[in-house]
Amino acid sequence: MRVPADLTVPVLAIDGPSGTGKGTIAGQVAKHLGWHTLDSGALYRAIAFLAVENRIGPGDTDGLEALAKSSVVEFAVTLDGVNILVDNRNITDEVRSEAGGKNASIYAKIPVVREALLYRQQAMRTAPGLVADGRDMGTVVFPDAFLKVFLEASATVRAQRRHKQLRGKGFDVKLRALEREIAERDEQDRNRTVSPLVPAADAIVLDTSEKDIAQVFTDVMQLVDERLASKEVSLT
Ligand code: C5P
Repeated sequence: MRVPADLTVPVLAIDGPSGTGKGTIAGQVAKHLGWHTLDSGALYRAIAFLAVENRIGPGDTDGLEALAKSSVVEFAVTLDGVNILVDNRNITDEVRSEAGGKNASIYAKIPVVREALLYRQQAMRTAPGLVADGRDMGTVVFPDAFLKVFLEASATVRAQRRHKQLRGKGFDVKLRALEREIAERDEQDRNRTVSPLVPAADAIVLDTSEKDIAQVFTDVMQLVDERLASKEVSLT
């Protein structure tokens, strides 16, 4: 039985393409507020990983639906960051690579996958609040979010950031190849028919190209504070 999400719980939606700092900002803001986080990209990455492992192709909609509904994906916070576990197996390294992102983008186009993950994401809306990051948090998953932020940055800056991030995690990536892969993934995410990557009509678009994480955090927190004060959403 599906348990309805508690719509009184405030949600902050942070969307945008890869390399804009969404995940980092979402984590910092959630920590500051004492709220939960939803890294929706990790869910898509995990399902795509399992689909490839189980040889379930993008055309096998029944197989994908069953997989997306039944797999247990969990997040474990460690000193090194958040680990992604499926059915108790740690698949963080496999899915965090750029290849993992590419696979996620292929399977994320499929309506049954998105549908199956929709309710799982909405069920993560629990008190005292949720900071959700992804591509369609503000448009589809949490259309009633009290604040929707859409982070942008130039393609070059985003590739440089991802390069640094992946290198830091030990991946041997080349900047040029990364630029190409990010451009392809963006193109795929922006042009798909279901839940394309677009800012919600009521989203606030922030260009982070010239800003560091601390500045973006300050900007987002200012928006959060203003919105919470004006909408009288309590921070309990
Ligand atoms: O955010 P991240 O880079 O981990 O996302 C990986 C891929 O998962 C994206 O390129 C996108 O195709 C897909 N995704 C999505 N909807 C979301 C989050 C991620 O389609 N809400």
